[in-house]
Amino acid sequence: MEQFRFEDRTAIVTGAGNGLGRAYAMLLASRGANVVVNDLGGAVDGTGAGEGAAMTVVQEIRALGGAAVADTHSVATVEGGEMLVASALDTFGGLDIVVNNAGILRDRAFHKLSPGDFDAVLDVHLRGTYFVTAPAYRHMRRHGYGRIVVTTSAAGLFGNFGQANYGAAKMGVVGLVKALAQEGAGHGIQSNVIAPGASTRMSGSVLPAGGPALTPDLVAPAVAYLCHESCPLNGEILSAFGGRVARAFLAETVGYYNGALTVEDVAANLGTILDTDGYLEPRSGMETLRVLEDLANR
Ligand code: NAI
Repeated sequence: MEQFRFEDRTAIVTGAGNGLGRAYAMLLASRGANVVVNDLGGAVDGTGAGEGAAMTVVQEIRALGGAAVADTHSVATVEGGEMLVASALDTFGGLDIVVNNAGILRDRAFHKLSPGDFDAVLDVHLRGTYFVTAPAYRHMRRHGYGRIVVTTSAAGLFGNFGQANYGAAKMGVVGLVKALAQEGAGHGIQSNVIAPGASTRMSGSVLPAGGPALTPDLVAPAVAYLCHESCPLNGEILSAFGGRVARAFLAETVGYYNGALTVEDVAANLGTILDTDGYLEPRSGMETLRVLEDLANR
């Protein structure tokens, strides 16, 4: 198969100074993309800032003959997102790809979770994804082309103890993409979700030791594919870690229907309600109404 290339494409990768983002930036640059390496340069809990992380990756890319520029704005502000997109346009004259990857952790059991820890995590993951994607999307829409990737987590899709703030943010970005995929489809803009897994400074204490290697390099090919013009996917969720790539999806059971539903009907028909046989994958919220109409007309 011909190698997938990104010549004449410009990509923003947020949080690309470390871990997964660094691997995405390095792979895209090695395949010919101009890359804006965004990183605030703080700690895993989001405190602090510095230029070192982004600059180091830019130097690594340039040393290998690639094109990259550093950006140290925080994605967690409207201005940061706008300046980041402006830096791509000013430096490289366009913007085709955005990988929303920046992230922090403030894990706490729910009864100890403070509003500050809740907000800090939502600010980077959820609002940050919006703050970067919004100006990027407006540019892409004007030019009729774009590839947007946002980052969820198994912790968001399936839940983890002590990660209610993180899970809320990580499911939030899935909702954002589900709508954006529909809105961008007519404008050549495809948006998808990656659920990665790798040993990084963020996951270091969470992932078990031993077992298959969990390097960021084993996630980057799935992300790069989602960034490629030949990728047909839109609104999908790919789970990628340790060399395994899979599709995660949201589905509904066919369910139980009764036009005169009572509380007792719900209790008496739990088996039917939970039965996954013939499950449905609505492509939009509106489609669930059509399922109801089908059942009602049976
Ligand atoms: P990491 O801590 O190695 O890298 C995250 C980067 O984001 C850091 O360099 C940090 O400085 C940057 N960042 C944080 N706040 C920022 C802000 N406001 N503006 C700009 N940059 C900021 O973490 P890792 O593991 O590479 O995670 C990358 C993404 O993947 C995150 O969204 C994380 O939630 C997600 N993820 C990671 C998993 C893993 O197993 N490592 C599992 C599931 C999801």
